[in-house]
Amino acid sequence: MAESTRIDRLMSMLSLATRSQAKSMVKDGRVEINGQTATDSSQYAPPGAVITLDGNVIDARLDRHVMMNKPAGLLTAARDSQQKTIMDLLPPVYTSLQCMPVGRLDKDTEGLILLTTDGQLAHRLLSPKQDVAKVYRARVTGKIDAGTVQRFRTGISFKEFVSLPAELEIEVITGELSVAKVTVREGKFHQVKRMFSACGHEVLSLRRLSFGPLELDEALAPGDWRELSDEEIDALRETADYG
Ligand code: URA
Repeated sequence: MAESTRIDRLMSMLSLATRSQAKSMVKDGRVEINGQTATDSSQYAPPGAVITLDGNVIDARLDRHVMMNKPAGLLTAARDSQQKTIMDLLPPVYTSLQCMPVGRLDKDTEGLILLTTDGQLAHRLLSPKQDVAKVYRARVTGKIDAGTVQRFRTGISFKEFVSLPAELEIEVITGELSVAKVTVREGKFHQVKRMFSACGHEVLSLRRLSFGPLELDEALAPGDWRELSDEEIDALRETADYG
């Protein structure tokens, strides 16, 4: 917790209770703040306070930063009335704390997606000024040749923009398929697919391997997620030139 928060508000933000339920819990003497039984639900819990409910310590962190291995088939969105989103993979507390995706991956794209409660950090990581590198592995139709590598490097013209220099490293060419690693420093809509399409290749699958200083944790199966370590958060903040 970065600042003191009213205990009833805190409990509702953490999806533990509605504010009126929190009020009853406090009235019934079930909540302690730093070892003292709370007496009023309007009481404030200071940053870093140890809070217990019925004697059990609750995870009262309001700041959350998550790395997820996005599976294909889910939308990158906070919510959607029709389709499942990556938020459905997280406990509801992440939604109540507004832990939001940093940018987006297409529905059929897999791999590393970050989510954070720190909107300012997300904003900075996505800002063109910060030039954050994103690495993808793409499986595409056709044989990628030196001309395509060069076009990625020099920039490709689209109706509304010219792509910034991108690196294309061919990994495998088999028959009529190629696999390559692509590093881009911007995040235009369908960017990688459009760059390949402009060079005559259709992207068959796309997986993000890294975002700035963070690499996808290989221990995470598609759909798995974990909180970032303090070192990873520091590295992100440094990349974003923030905090
Ligand atoms: N580029 C794309 O075309 N799609 C993604 O999901 C990410 C980058």
